[in-house]
Amino acid sequence: MRSEPAQAGGPRADPLAGRRILVGISGSIAAVKLPLLVSALARRGADVRCLLTPSAARLVSAEALACLSRHRCYLDADQWSHLAARPLHVELAEWAELVLVAPLSATSLGRWVHGLGDSLLASTLLACEAPVLAAAAMNTAMWASPAVRANWQRLQTWPGVLTLGPAAGVLACDRHGDGRMAEPELLLLALESLALWGCGRDWQGRRLLVSAGPTREFLDPARCLTNPSSGRMGVLLAQAARLRGAAVELVHGPLALPPAWLEGLDCREATTAAAMQVALLEAQPRADAIAMAAAIADHRRAAPLAHKLSKQALEQQLGGGWETVPDLLAGLVAARPAGQAILGFAAHSGEVLPQAQAKWQRKGCDLLFANPIDRPGTGFGADANEGWLLGPGERLTTLARQPKLAIAHQLLTALLGALGEGLRRPGGDPAAAGSAGDHRQPPLRQQGPGPGPLHCPDQPVPGIQPDRYPPDRYPLDRYPLDRAAADP
Ligand SMILES: Cc1cc2nc3c(=O)[nH]c(=O)nc-3n(C[C@H](O)[C@H](O)[C@H](O)COP(=O)(O)O)c2cc1C
Repeated sequence: MRSEPAQAGGPRADPLAGRRILVGISGSIAAVKLPLLVSALARRGADVRCLLTPSAARLVSAEALACLSRHRCYLDADQWSHLAARPLHVELAEWAELVLVAPLSATSLGRWVHGLGDSLLASTLLACEAPVLAAAAMNTAMWASPAVRANWQRLQTWPGVLTLGPAAGVLACDRHGDGRMAEPELLLLALESLALWGCGRDWQGRRLLVSAGPTREFLDPARCLTNPSSGRMGVLLAQAARLRGAAVELVHGPLALPPAWLEGLDCREATTAAAMQVALLEAQPRADAIAMAAAIADHRRAAPLAHKLSKQALEQQLGGGWETVPDLLAGLVAARPAGQAILGFAAHSGEVLPQAQAKWQRKGCDLLFANPIDRPGTGFGADANEGWLLGPGERLTTLARQPKLAIAHQLLTALLGALGEGLRRPGGDPAAAGSAGDHRQPPLRQQGPGPGPLHCPDQPVPGIQPDRYPPDRYPLDRYPLDRAAADP
């Protein structure tokens, strides 16, 4: 009988579905991007409340946010009322499981960092114990000013806050430079990460090299050998590592993903296996760890043609003229510097585990994530994944079907563990002492203990305490400060 990862079935629920999410919007022109983000959250089943500063209310409509969030939108004017049994800022802060502050203006940043609570958003943030995702946006010179830099630096050190600095681009003030708020698709991804993992920055100070996506091996200018990889698993792994504090270099083939998911990563595109090999070997010496999630073609043309073949000539050509692509993962393992940890990926159909175990023995990497590609809803291009993590040592961990971002976080925890183990090995990494062959692992033991403290998405995320503020205790729908009801 075929082996199955535990709990195979439908993908686990969206990490944002059912979450109580407070969206605080301050006075930046990037506020105009928030209504569609709020709409996306509501469509994903999140319970959303919006809060506008007076400046933000000049730039984006409270009515639109109320409509899209399916709930009234809160303004500064709502904070003071003789009908309120409890202060609104405390009520909102305690209601929220996750908070998004986007865009975060220089003024709101300053108020927050200096402990000033002179508005509804400012006092809510001070009262808030839930994890916060903060995305700054402002004019390039404002962002570069010493005061803003100092405030932003201070915010990075707060344990309950995940920060997304602005990206470079053409700004509404016609300046070109840093200041553009992270794109909404990236904010959604970071919120998902906050729900799954929290704000932990355990990869801070580490450099991770990731490969992602398919390669294309051209036969002629119009035809290529490739595969259905979208790049999702590798790019999510790269972003999750970046959100956990790593500096990430990403070498990727052609991707089928929102371009915003690449923001904050040091990216290099490599279409063919040969180009990917060059880019990876060049980047390898800088990396503390490598995750090889790319789906690299096994074969390529010995001599690609410069002109397009006719259909008849194509049929004749397909029978021969192929060569094996070098094993990039094995090459990286052989060339690795001391202390570097390497995670490989293995996508198989049929009996995955025996094939993966044989591959792991051959490759000599520290960890290998093996996943099936012949089951609906997982594998290539899907939102979810499942499979087995082989290593370090004899360990074998089953990863049940769940969103790829959740898998990414678990793989990162295991990779960080392997990195720690490598550094603790006598004399550093085995690669320092010999060839890839020295690094081979002993035979695997089925269902061995997991690789250290894997963070399971079923366990509560630090900072999110779902039962602490049950919605029925904080029924904001019936909150008496609803001015629409109070002031006829
Ligand atoms: C059209 C417009 C766009 C603005 N964009 C930004 C911005 O992107 N970032 C920022 O920090 N301030 C921006 N400001 C200035 C802030 O709105 C102003 O500093 C305000 O005090 C912010 O207060 P708040 O944080 O309570 O919303 C903008 C002002 C205007 C009029």
